[in-house]
Amino acid sequence: MPFMNDSACFQRRRAAFAEIVGDGLALVPTAREQFRNRGNAYPYRPDSYFWHLTGFPEPEAVLVIAAGRSILFCREKNAMLEVWTGFRYGPAAAREVFGFDEAWPIDELKHKLPELICGRPSLWFAPGMDSEWDATVLTALKSARDAESFTGKGAPACLYDWRETLDAMRMVKDETEIARMRKAGAITAAGHLRAMKTCRPGIMEYALEAEISYEFRRLGASGHAYSPIVAGGANACVLHYTRNDRSLNAGDLVLIDAGCEFECYAADITRTFPVSGRFTAAQRDCYEIVLAAQQAAIAATKPDVPLNRPHEAAVRVLAQGMLDLGLLTGDLDGVIESQAYRRFYMHNTGHWLGLDVHDVGSWKKTDSEGRESWPILAPGMTLTTEPGLYIAASPELPDALAAFAGIGIRIEDDLLVTESGAEVYTHAPRSVAEIEEVMRVHSSDIAA
Ligand code: GLY
Ligand code: MN
Ligand code: MN
Repeated sequence: MPFMNDSACFQRRRAAFAEIVGDGLALVPTAREQFRNRGNAYPYRPDSYFWHLTGFPEPEAVLVIAAGRSILFCREKNAMLEVWTGFRYGPAAAREVFGFDEAWPIDELKHKLPELICGRPSLWFAPGMDSEWDATVLTALKSARDAESFTGKGAPACLYDWRETLDAMRMVKDETEIARMRKAGAITAAGHLRAMKTCRPGIMEYALEAEISYEFRRLGASGHAYSPIVAGGANACVLHYTRNDRSLNAGDLVLIDAGCEFECYAADITRTFPVSGRFTAAQRDCYEIVLAAQQAAIAATKPDVPLNRPHEAAVRVLAQGMLDLGLLTGDLDGVIESQAYRRFYMHNTGHWLGLDVHDVGSWKKTDSEGRESWPILAPGMTLTTEPGLYIAASPELPDALAAFAGIGIRIEDDLLVTESGAEVYTHAPRSVAEIEEVMRVHSSDIAA
């Protein structure tokens, strides 16, 4: 059962998109099923654009919007195959349950598409995402052109890529999306809490990963929204470390970046905590800097400000912290201007979040004269806030800073832009005191 019975929200989105497409025709296919090897498919995940407009969960389907009508092409019912791979809606039930104006078997698409295209002034598609769909659309377009003289109907003269239009729609979340994202955030926070409670020196990174996966599935998520990172000690300085195959050592930190997917919506949380439950002085100093940077970024996240403002706020705090620790020398404006801080903080402070963990949405634009502009934050947008500090061991690091070598810290939470600011809706232990308390209370479980 889905979390909410909300086919109406998908119909509203289709209606909004159909309004933009007008008399034209739009084609939005879902993802293909991918096979690991013979007869073994990867777990199926629909395409995010298709899902956004339909909520239809099966592969081999495409949404066609033609002059305002929503038409689904999908697999037919098949009693024999349903014994092997389970229920399929079939066109009739799909039309009924998901509120399409029409639904047809997918095998009829190649005959019907040229017909549907004829007489439409524009064709909306996303070329370059799937070569088979590219070929299908171009073939249908050619058939429609070839038939112009005897159908008397023109083939579309204008071709549009719908990505910018649908990206803009996806950037601002409606209530049903926010509810799903809150649920994804709550399940993800529970997974991180479980990892903190379970961690002990000697445990393998993959064993902590398993605790998180268990909690995600136990609480109803479909699984991970991206490959989880469980990085002990200096592994945390590898930003996309996903091997997760080393043991966790007393005295080290462990960085866990993991988020579940719930009804196709992602959460994205990172927590960094001491393997044996208590931060060393050097680890704590670094952690407090990253936490203060995150607080500055959150405070800077509000409507009507450009997306880069939270990043700039975080960079100021991080750069000052690097100066205070002695990792950098000079003055604050100087190390920001020269970007010297990038040696220890080399990524952005956040990204859009939604159906995709790195969700669609506009980013920095540079005009022909080199002027940069950023999208402006608005209520309903969702994004991450994830400052970090990564001090890879290096011969260039002075001996006096040896205590910091190999420390990698990131703290990541998920934000909803509200009317007046930003709400952090992911709640896993975050301060030094909260983390140490959870780990202290559960250390007796660990001993047992
Ligand atoms: N988990 C990927 C990221 O934080 O961007
Ligand atoms: Mn992230
Ligand atoms: Mn992350």
